[in-house]
Amino acid sequence: MEIIRTVSRLREVAENHRTAGRSIGLVPTMGALHAGHKSLVDRARCENDIVIVSVFVNPTQFNNANDLATYPRTEEADAAMLESCGVDYAFIPSVDEIYPEPDTRVFDLGPVAEVMEGPMRPGHFNGVAQIVSKLFAWSKPTKAYFGEKDFQQIAVIRRMVELEGFDLEIIPCPIVREADGLALSSRNVRLTAEGRAVAPKIHYLLQQSVDLKAQGLTPKQVEDATIGAIDAIDGLRTEYFQIVDAKTMQPISQWSQAGELGAAGCITVYCGDVRLIDNIRY
Ligand code: PAF
Repeated sequence: MEIIRTVSRLREVAENHRTAGRSIGLVPTMGALHAGHKSLVDRARCENDIVIVSVFVNPTQFNNANDLATYPRTEEADAAMLESCGVDYAFIPSVDEIYPEPDTRVFDLGPVAEVMEGPMRPGHFNGVAQIVSKLFAWSKPTKAYFGEKDFQQIAVIRRMVELEGFDLEIIPCPIVREADGLALSSRNVRLTAEGRAVAPKIHYLLQQSVDLKAQGLTPKQVEDATIGAIDAIDGLRTEYFQIVDAKTMQPISQWSQAGELGAAGCITVYCGDVRLIDNIRY
């Protein structure tokens, strides 16, 4: 595995492989890699001639300075993991390499970015669009892999791809969970012992929400019941729980409003000061 530090080397490598007719799978990450990332990398390895994984904590998508400062950074362990997964190239650049000057682009991300994480984290999705568009332009992937834990992010990236006209396929990959149901996240290492003990309740109550739908509750009733149950647990506080159309991300008031992909329940919960996100399909 080659570790690439510069944009010029990344462009050169990608150009050479594409010219030679090889497919490129790109897995964009912010490092602190875990089994969820490994599932993306393994899938990319199966489906492409060449696999590139980027490891970059992108400052422009953090709307909270403390979140950026405390985001876990484990470069050596990440590189070792990627090497053992048979990755061809790990792109691990500095902030100056990616942003030699400020990126002032503002993407017209439309309705998919106007709900849930959009208003909660102003500027976040624009920052994601900035970095992912750069990575796509430089690494020319055939396919790019993203975890479904960040469910809304995938819709936003699809929109960016449409705006920029990138010719590639976005591959959403299922959430990987701990045995007790907690969705894997790089932020889980920041949970206290007490937080770690209650955090699996989030997934448990999301599963219960599927049963509530089956019992005939409306989306609003399911949202209220789930938020009530989570907030009743010591150490958990729901920021939002919204049932949306799984394609458009727009809230639905009746189950029949959900289109071809059905409905998704997207949740953000504070577990102490750690912000966890998860989702479930109906
Ligand atoms: O999902 C993430 O880890 C990040 O948002 C991404 C897609 C790597 C962009 O920085």
